[in-house]
Amino acid sequence: MAIDLTTEQKELGKENFAQAAEGLTRRGFMKSLAIGAAGVVPASAALYFGYEKWKNGNPVKTALIGAGDEGGVLVGEHNPEFLQFVAVCDLRPSNRKRIFNGDANKTSIRKGFKKIYGADCEKDIKQYDDYDKFITMLTSGEGMHIEAVVIALPLHWHAKAAIDVMRAGQDRGKPIHVLCEKLMAWNITQCKQMIATAKDATAKRPKSSILSIGHQRHYSLLYAHATEVIHSGVLGDIHHIRALWHRNNAWPYVVDLNGPAQAARTQPFYRDGWYPAVLQEDYDALQGKVEKYGYKDVEQLIRWRLYNETGGGLMAELGSHQLDACSIFLGKVHPLSVTGVGGKYFYGPGHNDRDCEDHVFVTFEFPGKTYFADETRKAVKNKDDVVVVTYSSISTNQFEAYGECVMGSGGTMVVEKEESLMLYPEQAPGAKQGARATAVTVSGAGGGKPALEASSSGGGPSVASKSEAGPAGTGGPVSRGYREEMEDFAFCVRLWDGEKGYEKDKAGNYVQRLPRCHGEVAMADAILALSANLAMKTRKRISFEDHKKWFDSAEMNEVPDGDAKPRSQVDVT
Ligand SMILES: NC(=O)c1ccc[n+]([C@@H]2O[C@H](COP(=O)([O-])OP(=O)(O)OC[C@H]3O[C@@H](n4cnc5c(N)ncnc54)[C@H](O)[C@@H]3O)[C@@H](O)[C@H]2O)c1
Repeated sequence: MAIDLTTEQKELGKENFAQAAEGLTRRGFMKSLAIGAAGVVPASAALYFGYEKWKNGNPVKTALIGAGDEGGVLVGEHNPEFLQFVAVCDLRPSNRKRIFNGDANKTSIRKGFKKIYGADCEKDIKQYDDYDKFITMLTSGEGMHIEAVVIALPLHWHAKAAIDVMRAGQDRGKPIHVLCEKLMAWNITQCKQMIATAKDATAKRPKSSILSIGHQRHYSLLYAHATEVIHSGVLGDIHHIRALWHRNNAWPYVVDLNGPAQAARTQPFYRDGWYPAVLQEDYDALQGKVEKYGYKDVEQLIRWRLYNETGGGLMAELGSHQLDACSIFLGKVHPLSVTGVGGKYFYGPGHNDRDCEDHVFVTFEFPGKTYFADETRKAVKNKDDVVVVTYSSISTNQFEAYGECVMGSGGTMVVEKEESLMLYPEQAPGAKQGARATAVTVSGAGGGKPALEASSSGGGPSVASKSEAGPAGTGGPVSRGYREEMEDFAFCVRLWDGEKGYEKDKAGNYVQRLPRCHGEVAMADAILALSANLAMKTRKRISFEDHKKWFDSAEMNEVPDGDAKPRSQVDVT
C-alpha cells in the first residue's frame, strides 16, 4: 500500500509534491505557499489563517484544566505572546509537577511552564487540585482576570467542564472562552448543550462565549497545502480516500518501577500507551477520592481511554482526527452514510483488558462535487458521484503507521504522520516506468485547470526535497497546528463582543470571527466518530441523509446516540 513506501520512493514523492505545489503556486492555485527569493516557501500561518498579534501586547489570561499528556503538549506549543497561563487544575500530583517541570527528555514537546515562563513561575501560576474549587475561583475576585480556559480532560469531562466554565463567565458578566480538546464530547446531546451554552445570551447571562475545539488539523499548513492541491484538480476525479492509524501494542512489557508493592499494582502487561502505569504518588493521594469526579477508582482516572463510561474508543481518540482531515479535503461536507466492523480481538482478561475495541474498520460515503444539485442537498443530481472514505485502526500491527491517501484518476497524494506530503502521478497506459518512479510537474491543461504532467524521473530528488519535512520541500519542522490553533483562539478572544455573540448576517453567516473549528464544526466531527461506533456496535448502515437534523445544533433531541449518559457525576443537565 502506498503509505508504506521505501525511503527513495518517499523522497521522490516529496519532490513531486514540491514541483507540483510550485507549479500551482505560480499559477495562483495555492495560497498556503508563497514565492520568495528562496523559491516556494510556506505562507505565514497568521496571514494564511487570517489572525495577527494585537499591537499592545496583553496576552489572553488563561487557565488549564487537565495537565496530562495533551495538556503538556498545549503548554509546550503555546505562544506566550498570545496566551499567558495563570492557573492550572489537575487531580494528579504527578501531573501538576510535570506541567511545571516538563518531561525529563529534553527534546520532548512537553517543555513545562518553567522552561517557558522561568524557574520561579510557580508564584504566578496558581495550582488547584480540586475541580469545584477551581470553578468557584473563576467567579471570585481571585479569578476575575481569567479570560479563557483550555480543557485537556478525559472525554467524559469535556462537556461538563466547558459548560461550567462558560456559565461561570456568563454569571459573573464577563465571558470566559473555552478551547476544549477533541473529541468535542462523550455524546452528541452534550455537544449541543455546549453550543447552546456558548451562545446563551439571555438576560440572566448576557455574555456569550467562544467555544473552540482542538482538532488541530484545521490549523496545519501541511493540511492546508494538501487541501489546496486536491481542490486545484490535479488529482483528477477522486472517489477514494484511505485513512489509517496502525500501531502494535502487543509487545510484552516490563516496567522498571521502584518497590515491589508499586510494581505489583501498576505493571502493564503490554507496551500499550492507553494502559500507562499507575504511579504510587497518584495512588496514595487519590485512592478513595476519585468517585466524586466520576471515576470508579484511580486506575480508571489514569486509564480512562479503556472504558466506555469515560472514553470513546479508537474512533474518538484516533479516527476523529483523520475523518476530520478527510472531511477537510472534501470541503467539510457532511457524509452520506457509515458502516463498520470492529471489536476487542486481542485484549481480554490478563491481556490489558478494556471495554473498547482494539480493531476498527469503517467505511463512509461522502457526496462528490456533483452528487447534489446544490448546497441545500435537497435534490440528488448524480448519485454515482460518491467519495468512499475507509478508515482502519489496528492495535496489533504497525504496518503503514498513520496517514491519509487520496486516490484520484490523475494521481495519488499521501499525507504521512502529519509531517510529509507525497504525490505520485497515475501512469499513462503503455508507459514504461512504475508510477512511483515518475517525476511530475504541473502544466496548464485545457480549460484553465492545472494537470499533473509525468516525465522520466531522471536524476532523483533535488536537495531541497531531501530536507526533512518542509511540505513543499522547503525544509524546517512542520507545525502540527497546535500553536496556530491557540494563537487564532486568542485573536478571536481579543476581538469578541459578547453582546453581539452569535448574530448572523442576512446571508446566514456569523458576523463575528469564530475559530475555524468552532462548536458546530467540531460537532460534525463528533457525529462522524460516534456514529461509526454505533454502526460497528449495531452492525448496521447509518444513513446521515435520513437524519440531517443531527447536524443542527438547535435540534436538541435529534442525536444519533439517544439519551445515553456517562457516569451521573459528569452529567451536564
Ligand atoms: N489533539 C490531539 O492531538 C490530542 C492528542 C492526545 C489527547 N487529546 C485529548 O486530550 C484530552 C486529554 O488527554 P490526555 O492524553 O492528556 O489524558 P491524560 O490522562 O494524560 O490527562 C488527563 C488529565 O486530566 C486530569 N483530570 C481528570 N479528571 C479531572 C478532573 N475532574 N479535574 C481535574 N483534573 C482531572 C487527570 O488527572 C490527568 O492529568 C483527551 O480528550 C484527548 O482526547 C488530543
